[in-house]
Amino acid sequence: MAGIYVHVPFCKVKCHYCDFHFSVQLKNRVSLVDAICKELVIRQDYIGDDNVATIYFGGGTPSVLELHLIQELLETIQNNYKIDPNCEITLECNPDDLDEEKLKGLHALGVNRLSIGIQSFDNDVLTFMNRAHNSSQAVESVVLAKACGFENITIDLIYGVPRTDMKLWKKQLQQMIELEVPHLSAYCLTIEENTVFGNWQKKGKLKPYEDQASLLQFQYLMDTMAENGFEQYEISNFAKPSFISKHNSAYWLGERYLGVGPSAHSFNGAERSWNVASNPRYSQLISKNEQFNEQETLSTQDQFNEYILTRLRTKWGIALADLEAISPKMTADALPILNEFLANGDVQKNGNVYTLTNGGKYIADAISAELFSS
Ligand SMILES: C[S@@+](CC[C@H](N)C(=O)[O-])C[C@H]1O[C@@H](n2cnc3c(N)ncnc32)[C@H](O)[C@@H]1O
Ligand code: SF4
Repeated sequence: MAGIYVHVPFCKVKCHYCDFHFSVQLKNRVSLVDAICKELVIRQDYIGDDNVATIYFGGGTPSVLELHLIQELLETIQNNYKIDPNCEITLECNPDDLDEEKLKGLHALGVNRLSIGIQSFDNDVLTFMNRAHNSSQAVESVVLAKACGFENITIDLIYGVPRTDMKLWKKQLQQMIELEVPHLSAYCLTIEENTVFGNWQKKGKLKPYEDQASLLQFQYLMDTMAENGFEQYEISNFAKPSFISKHNSAYWLGERYLGVGPSAHSFNGAERSWNVASNPRYSQLISKNEQFNEQETLSTQDQFNEYILTRLRTKWGIALADLEAISPKMTADALPILNEFLANGDVQKNGNVYTLTNGGKYIADAISAELFSS
């Protein structure tokens, strides 16, 4: 089984916090979709004979594409790959792009999972972040998506936002619960350097959020989701039973995937590759049949560290047998450190599998860094 990720590098506006690869030059979307279709044909062999179990349109904002462009991408995939009959097909969308016609059209094309970028249900926060939608559009998009036949819906929310407080965060989660969506991705705001927020912070116009306040919001998030029947299967991801994202889980479990489009990454089990992160350059290189990506073969150390980084954040945790299969020596070096985290309660052990406790989830990246082989 393998996955296909399609990066759609367009957005209507630039949100103040975001440093993902995208362009606001929407006029180039037809030629860029053609280039991505060409890449899909060229790279057919990348995932070998595997059935495609998941297709994920991410961005950028895939919902800015007209239905016929999404159809063109899906048909190219269907014509060139073996698609599993139960394939999970996710499309990231923004509330302001969703109306009845679009939603019904997406459903008819076979999209069976929607990831709606809400970020906040509060108008002041949405304006502060420079989002293109308002609070009522956020709520209406979810209600309408359900009415148009989508059951598998996830929304994104951001916490730890300057100028907000715990009271507001509680309201966000309350709204999410009331909307009865079966999946949530909740991210703590990162202030990235080359963004408006990064710039404001450098100039002293934006005061970073207190770590302690973000931690309290994270704690509240974990408690609320557990009380409402969601499983935290990855640090930022919560699902009702049977609504775990198959696509993202496959990344975390180290399965192979092909990523197409500017800046997309791919992994075939041994080698990682990444496409050029520029729309014009990507289109140009594809049209001239020239190299549009770079690749590296993962060293044993890379494999060991990546396994720790991705698995520790998930409910599947670190299995000793897997670590030993990568490197018995690196495992022997990491084991005493892992046991220290076990002793102080940041990590728990079930058989030979180590997972984070709620306390450990606060410092997941620091724990991974300690366990890395260097
Ligand atoms: C790159 S966006 C793509 C989806 C869609 N365009 C949207 O705006 O929702 C994916 C998610 O990353 C999260 N994200 C992006 N930048 C972030 C940041 N600096 N800090 C925290 N979360 C961020 C947001 O929650 C966003 O929904
Ligand atoms: S958060 Fe989404 S809509 Fe906003 S700039 Fe990033 S990719 Fe585009």
